[in-house]
Amino acid sequence: MRIVIANASHIKYAQIISDTITESAKVRGTGIAKRTPEYILKRLQNGNAVIALDGEKFAGFCYIEVWGHNKFVANSGLIVHPDFRNLGLAKKIKERIFKLSREKFPDAKIFGITTGLAVMKMNYELGYKPVTFSELTDDPEFWKGCQTCKNFDVLTRTEQKMCLCTGMLYDPAAKPKATDKKEVDGKVFKRLKSIKEQLFLKKKNKDE
Ligand SMILES: CC(C)(COP(=O)(O)OP(=O)(O)OC[C@H]1O[C@@H](n2cnc3c(N)ncnc32)[C@H](O)[C@@H]1OP(=O)(O)O)[C@@H](O)C(=O)NCCC(=O)NCCS
Repeated sequence: MRIVIANASHIKYAQIISDTITESAKVRGTGIAKRTPEYILKRLQNGNAVIALDGEKFAGFCYIEVWGHNKFVANSGLIVHPDFRNLGLAKKIKERIFKLSREKFPDAKIFGITTGLAVMKMNYELGYKPVTFSELTDDPEFWKGCQTCKNFDVLTRTEQKMCLCTGMLYDPAAKPKATDKKEVDGKVFKRLKSIKEQLFLKKKNKDE
């Protein structure tokens, strides 16, 4: 398995990356924004993405996006092809894209929003902390990226204050405390997710 910084030689993978994201969104049913092949194509060529390949076969992908005039970067679009899941690949991709983000944008805060326990776990281990959306970028272009998520109406209804996703942030200026835990409590996260689903999705159904 090779995990490399993507370049123009990888544009042939734009379609399968887009399809894998769409399929995963259908299966998971929540919290994954769709990305067109054209959108992925740009990310494959700008030196800000990581691709994992098993020989010539697509295995995984993640990209960096820059927001708020380089003050924030997001590590977005993490996807592992179903054939390569539960092998520790996402963890390796996340570590590589985090390293690339720190090298290219050393002063930027790194953030992500996710509904996935796997991603929360990995972010925690890298030193991210859960935060409210108000601590993330207010760049409207970032939030526009949520338009293709099936929960977008929740984000609109709460005036972008909260959604099913949890915001997580790595602040390079924050000094880690000796007491900082490096493990996420899966039970607490599942409970939080279930409370959010009850609050937001029930209300949504009532409104319909
Ligand atoms: C989420 C996803 C990227 C995980 O990829 P993966 O290569 O199977 O993950 P890894 O094997 O590297 O596992 C990393 C950690 O997450 C945990 N994990 C993996 N899948 C999980 C799941 N469905 N639920 C809870 N934890 C999970 C693993 O146990 C591991 O934790 P550990 O280090 O404590 O053992 C992959 O399932 C995927 O592409 N899903 C669809 C797209 C998606 O959800 N993307 C994230 C959008 S925010």
